[in-house]
Amino acid sequence: MDNIKSYVKENKDRFVTELIDLLKIPSISADKNYKNDVIKTADAVKTSLEKAGCDNVEICETPGYPVVYGEKIIDKSLPTVLVYGHYDVQPADPIELWTSPPFEPVIKKTEIHPEGAIFARGACDDKGQMFMHVKAFEYMIANNNLPCNVKFMIEGEEEIGSPSLEWFVKRNHEKLANDIILISDTGMISNTQPSITTGLRGLSYVEVEVTGPNRDLHSGLYGGAVANPINILAKMIASLHDENNHITIPQFYDKVLELTNEERAEMAKAPFSLDDYKKALDMEDVYGEKGYTTNERNSIRPTLDVNGIWGGYTGEGAKTVIASKAFAKISMRLVPNQTPKEITELFQKHFENIAPKAVKVKVTPHHGGHAYVTPIDNIAYKAANKAYTQTFGVPAIPQRSGGSIPIVALFENELKSKSILMGFGLDSDAIHSPNEHYGIFNYLKGIETIPLFYKYYVAMTK
Ligand code: BES
Ligand code: MN
Ligand code: MN
Repeated sequence: MDNIKSYVKENKDRFVTELIDLLKIPSISADKNYKNDVIKTADAVKTSLEKAGCDNVEICETPGYPVVYGEKIIDKSLPTVLVYGHYDVQPADPIELWTSPPFEPVIKKTEIHPEGAIFARGACDDKGQMFMHVKAFEYMIANNNLPCNVKFMIEGEEEIGSPSLEWFVKRNHEKLANDIILISDTGMISNTQPSITTGLRGLSYVEVEVTGPNRDLHSGLYGGAVANPINILAKMIASLHDENNHITIPQFYDKVLELTNEERAEMAKAPFSLDDYKKALDMEDVYGEKGYTTNERNSIRPTLDVNGIWGGYTGEGAKTVIASKAFAKISMRLVPNQTPKEITELFQKHFENIAPKAVKVKVTPHHGGHAYVTPIDNIAYKAANKAYTQTFGVPAIPQRSGGSIPIVALFENELKSKSILMGFGLDSDAIHSPNEHYGIFNYLKGIETIPLFYKYYVAMTK
């Protein structure tokens, strides 16, 4: 049996069971309580690579969670594909909104996934997508048709901004040397219209703290006479966008790479229904920067969003209090030429500037990352497109995504190699949200498509 389609058919139940086992381990990198589970997941990934036929599989220690590495070098004169993915997942909360427990995977049918989808945290982002590569590799080894060298690098800190990855990549240039980096950690348009992600946004993530009085106060005795840090934080945040939903931070847009009208027209050709978009999110209308379409707003334009805001009394009932402090976590998605360092500095300066004297503000930068765009006139893109065309029956469409994978720009700087983003997830798969899921169709299609990428990529390099 040397045909990938029949191999998938024959083994699909086992492929699903193995993924489910991996999903049962709660590898939440953001929460120290799950430290042992994160490490256990690294071990499970290691074992799966060994079983699939990888050589020199190792758990590479870093200052944070380990990187799992494995390789199959068949001939040094052939090209080398480096597969990158992550085995860590986002926290599951708010847990009460899950219809089944996040780490007890179940298969349920949905309108978009009539063949069933696996519901679990990390099902799509990124255990399911990463594991497709392990299974595709297993197929190529089992059938003796791996056409080039492969290296796997699966990390455990992606969801917290890959804090150890620069350290690791800088020390392992030779080990990670490759001709192309292959990543499935993005999405596609739909199950009938595949797409290849040609852009990712960068990120600057900050936390702000606003302090009013030095202690919580009775809101009757002091209310009206002192700065309420929550009121003030809300006002400051509201002022960060103007009436056109333009960000008001001075110089924020100075370096933004504007697209030409031709490029925008090309983008607008991708199938998209605003009605379906609104319906899927149960919203009367969309909202965003004036002068740009929904797809432009969420991909080629920079943004500023509050991700969390807290302070004061949020328990049951009412408590009359003026809090001493208010907090918010804010992300800014960046586009090419904006650097996270510059944007973080601009934010900090502006936020301090707009604070009234009656409060103190503190801005703490978290992680950041650079945006990334790939050309479509290279052989990796062409090979990927050929692979999708064969398995989906229609060519893929290039699509810029709004998400961020900061490591991609780092790879380009450090290893001088390009990444090809072959994602199989859907926007409706609810990554980072309650009830994350991954279609069985998508999982198996991914396993089917990946070996074809290898085949066409290697053929095109000859
Ligand atoms: N896989 C996502 C990024 C993604 C998803 C890109 C869908 C494009 C389409 C990744 O795991 C992620 O969540 N990245 C974070 C950034 C990171 C620094 C925490 C993000 O985009 O918020
Ligand atoms: Mn991911
Ligand atoms: Mn993620």
